[in-house]
Amino acid sequence: MHTGKRNAFFIHTFGCQMNQADSGIISALLQEEGYIQAEHELDAGIVLLNTCAVRENAVDRVEHFLQHLQGRKKREKELIVGVAGCIPQYKREEMFSLYPAIDFLAGPDTYRTIPKLVEQVRRGGKLSSLEFNSEETYEGVEPVRNGVTSAFVPVMRGCNNRCAYCVVPFTRGRERSQPFTSVLREVEKLVSMGYREITLLGQNVNSYCDLEKGCDFSALLDAVSREAPLARIRFTTSHPKDISESLVRTIASRPNICNALHLPVQSGSSKMLGRMNRGHTIDEYMEKIALIRSLLPDVALSTDIIAGFCGEQEEDHQASLDLLDNVRFDSAYMFFYSARPGTLAAETFDDDVPESVKKRRLQEIIDLQNHISAELFQKAIGTAVEVLAESESRRSPEQLMGRTAGNRAVVFDRELYQPGDLLHVMITGATSATLTGRPVP
Ligand code: 5AD
Ligand code: SF4
Repeated sequence: MHTGKRNAFFIHTFGCQMNQADSGIISALLQEEGYIQAEHELDAGIVLLNTCAVRENAVDRVEHFLQHLQGRKKREKELIVGVAGCIPQYKREEMFSLYPAIDFLAGPDTYRTIPKLVEQVRRGGKLSSLEFNSEETYEGVEPVRNGVTSAFVPVMRGCNNRCAYCVVPFTRGRERSQPFTSVLREVEKLVSMGYREITLLGQNVNSYCDLEKGCDFSALLDAVSREAPLARIRFTTSHPKDISESLVRTIASRPNICNALHLPVQSGSSKMLGRMNRGHTIDEYMEKIALIRSLLPDVALSTDIIAGFCGEQEEDHQASLDLLDNVRFDSAYMFFYSARPGTLAAETFDDDVPESVKKRRLQEIIDLQNHISAELFQKAIGTAVEVLAESESRRSPEQLMGRTAGNRAVVFDRELYQPGDLLHVMITGATSATLTGRPVP
């Protein structure tokens, strides 16, 4: 292997936005040590998978990649394969025996060790670095970012909740927040680099807390929106029980904070929510929705929902469908339950909804939500919406893709516009996932 390739790395990222942000951190840490980011996996002598363990099918996808890398390793003896993020933290050293392609493992709190691990693996052996470090916020690491328009800023990591189905507390550990001044410094820098959209990230972003500054998430959001007055500000993910009136008022009072909230509900049945250990009932969830809509009448709401959790009866499933009907979310991420070993649910409840039933219920949820999204999107036809252009559309270089403040994807005729431009688009067509249109002067 020639030196250029030996020192080149490529990262495949799976999972959530936090993982995308983390891949930027890993890239920065490797580049600081002289490694170079390759454009294509085949040009890289170091291949990293940054992984997600939240659902079984995410794990299956990684497995598939590892098989491909095993084939590459047979041909390229010096290839180094590292697996980072949630799967190794969850499955630990068992990974080495399951997947012989792997040379090293690094968890979400040990990315700083990755350059050293690469160096040590070159000298021989397989290594893992899987300690939890609830102080680690990667403060001071300036992540490598892909786009020039939108930037993620992780402001807190980890999760102190114990939702019964969820591996996150086991993979990402305890909550910790990036200091207020450090977040603001990063935002100031992004503004000077011309970023037009900043998304504050955290598994449980509303739990952000800087004790020294006496600052909570509302205060942080307010300060960030003032620091970057020309950028759109978004944040995710919020836990319903932590949505406060002060947060909603902050969103209402600052024009550049997007009127969009991602508020995972997980089930429409209070009985299921209790079993899931979510810490609220459906009535309480609906009270939060009412509060949000009273202060933000145009808010775009989105959610996560799980079909077929342990013990879910037809009436609980019906309650989920009714909830979707009542709230009319703009969009939803919809999953069927997959038991994750070690979680409270996997240890205490039977995974008793047959797979065929889970899938049928999920399909009913998807069909209903698609219908609702399509109806809401249809209503946009004939109106002009403000769009931040993000990238070329996948279908044609003559078209750009952008998003409304409510996070709806819009594909429109390019004309002379560029990614990063904020413009108005007259909506002429809609599906359940995308709006189409043309720029208006
Ligand atoms: N099975 C199915 N969906 C899950 N999620 C988390 N854990 C599981 C699981 N074991 C979903 C939740 C969460 C989203 C990120 O993934 O809806 O909000
Ligand atoms: Fe998982 Fe619940 Fe924490 Fe979200 S809030 S990461 S679902 S434990």
